[in-house]
Amino acid sequence: MANKNFYITTPIYYPSGNPHMGHAYSSIIADIIARFKKMEGLSVYFLTGTDEHGLKIQREAEKNKKDVKLFCDEISKKFEELTKTLNLSNNDFIRTTEKRHFKSVNEIWNRLIKSGDIYLGKYSGWYSVSDEAYYDEDEIIEKNGKKISQTSGSAVDWVEEESYFFKLSAFQNKLLDHYKKNKDFILPQSRRNEVISFVKSGLKDLSISRTSFKWGINVEKNSNHIMYVWIDALVNYLTSLGYPDLKKKKEYWDECIHIIGKDILKFHAVYWPAMLMAANLPLPRRIFAHGWWTNEGKKISKSLGNAIDPNKIINTYGLDQFRYFLLREVTLGQDGDFSEKALKNRVNSDLSNNFGNLVQRIIKFLFKNFEGVIPFQLDSNSLNNHPLKDSYFLFSKVEKLINNFELSKGIDEIFIFISSLNKFMDESEPWNMIKSDKELTGKILTELIEGFRVIGIILQPFLPIASKLLLDTLNID
Ligand code: MSP
Repeated sequence: MANKNFYITTPIYYPSGNPHMGHAYSSIIADIIARFKKMEGLSVYFLTGTDEHGLKIQREAEKNKKDVKLFCDEISKKFEELTKTLNLSNNDFIRTTEKRHFKSVNEIWNRLIKSGDIYLGKYSGWYSVSDEAYYDEDEIIEKNGKKISQTSGSAVDWVEEESYFFKLSAFQNKLLDHYKKNKDFILPQSRRNEVISFVKSGLKDLSISRTSFKWGINVEKNSNHIMYVWIDALVNYLTSLGYPDLKKKKEYWDECIHIIGKDILKFHAVYWPAMLMAANLPLPRRIFAHGWWTNEGKKISKSLGNAIDPNKIINTYGLDQFRYFLLREVTLGQDGDFSEKALKNRVNSDLSNNFGNLVQRIIKFLFKNFEGVIPFQLDSNSLNNHPLKDSYFLFSKVEKLINNFELSKGIDEIFIFISSLNKFMDESEPWNMIKSDKELTGKILTELIEGFRVIGIILQPFLPIASKLLLDTLNID
């Protein structure tokens, strides 16, 4: 029987500056889910990459006095290197400057033209280059004599030019209908409610091309026009599957989950499904929006220069430690605050004291007293009131939580089990017991090691390095 398919994506990142912790966060969430789905036996396709067009990137390259393509090459490479540093299990790394992507975007554009959902007009309104987003008058405020977006705080410019438009307004009811019929299309529910009220308040047609700069995909039949970077970017999720030829990977598209940050929800939950409806293509299964991290209480921003370099954190504390902190510290979907102090606390109390010490002590003891050989034949029927008994339900418990995007609760459950093994070890005191009853000590050690086996397996999606080390030590395939 063929495996069931599963497709998961991260946002594709702007190579306008070096990767930071926010980017690493989106990627690690997707990686944990991808690894878990693989463990469930699904055939998983995991995509990440870089979003390289638009005025934001063009300006950044100009600021750095670099050719824009070379600038993208340089920074995109850093994002690709980060996939290795984070030990991501991605199958593809897409760049929107690749030929395959142009083909796929042109196909979507032509489909929208054919369906009558694109027309030529004139745009006048506010645009933020830093957010690559249009804003309505009522979303703009004035600060220190400058017009800025109320939500993001980014500067906006007044734009007036000929533009192609996408008939987004025509999809208002179809979108609302889709949200209604698919209660978990947008998660968490609070985000779903936000999207529904945004769409209910009325959708305007969307300007989807610009004529005042050059860095992007040209409209084939009117090449003064450069496609709006979001139209170009969203299509990446199809490009990687071979679009326009979806023959080989269509089953993945039917099972697609987009992991994104809350700031880019409108693009994924409103524009993207409307575009797909217009192109007569199926919609993704789910869109999950995670929260934002601040750095010691402050918004992470280029101007403050307070971005956290994931490479530095990983070099200092280790990859598993970084993954563990990001996942365990906040409930997925909510905002979190980063500080090295909080990271150190988590790592010391949970990973080193609770988990690391337990394993090291017992394995050392096993080598000292039993020559590293598991001394006892375990009988799983005799495990009444034993912490191990629960461990056999751990997988299905964690599975349910992960399928519900409750990753921090999932990892919490595993650590609750680790604590119960610690308690069991403390209460049974194998180091005293060995003096009087070697056989019973052997039984206790075997039970603890069986617990480690379960932990080693279930921790794999979360802590790939520590779990591999543990399973290798226990000689478990
Ligand atoms: N290029 C677009 C996405 C296009 S997807 C078709 C983009 N890129 S981005 O590089 O600006 O951001 C990518 C992701 O990083 C977003 O999901 C965003 O939420 C996440 N983060 C950026 N800063 C963040 C924090 N401070 N905290 C958590 N995640 C944040 O948007």
